[in-house]
Amino acid sequence: GADIEVDISQIEPGQLIRVMWRSKPVWIVRRPPAMLDELAKHEDKLKDPNSEAEQQPTFAKNRYRSLKEEYLILVGICTHLGCSPQYKKEGAFEEAVEGVPDGFFCPCHGSKFDMAGRVFESVPAPLNLVVPPYQYVDDTTVIIG
Ligand code: FES
Repeated sequence: GADIEVDISQIEPGQLIRVMWRSKPVWIVRRPPAMLDELAKHEDKLKDPNSEAEQQPTFAKNRYRSLKEEYLILVGICTHLGCSPQYKKEGAFEEAVEGVPDGFFCPCHGSKFDMAGRVFESVPAPLNLVVPPYQYVDDTTVIIG
């Protein structure tokens, strides 16, 4: 399939929407300020906080891993064996990592990722979740691909 254009204007703070791109699920999450602040607080528990271990767009090699800090865009496929991680928010992720309220949990073998898709230590997934190539054509329209 071709690249896709997505209108992000209706995403609420904290909401995740799913779109399909080249037969893969892609997530777009609107991260409120508190969620962005969390990202600085647990970097000592991450395997690769600056995404140095993998092929990623250059803009993803940092704490936020996004072109606009507010909008996280990821391929929603676990980097272990390809299951679909679950979005746990508003404290639900604390069951997985104490002190971290929001994140993604893979039910297949327990891999854990933060709200930038960065993988935590001591789980089977080797790499951060993949950031697909994308660009904004205006403030509320993004093209994935
Ligand atoms: Fe996600 Fe194994 S496929 S932890």
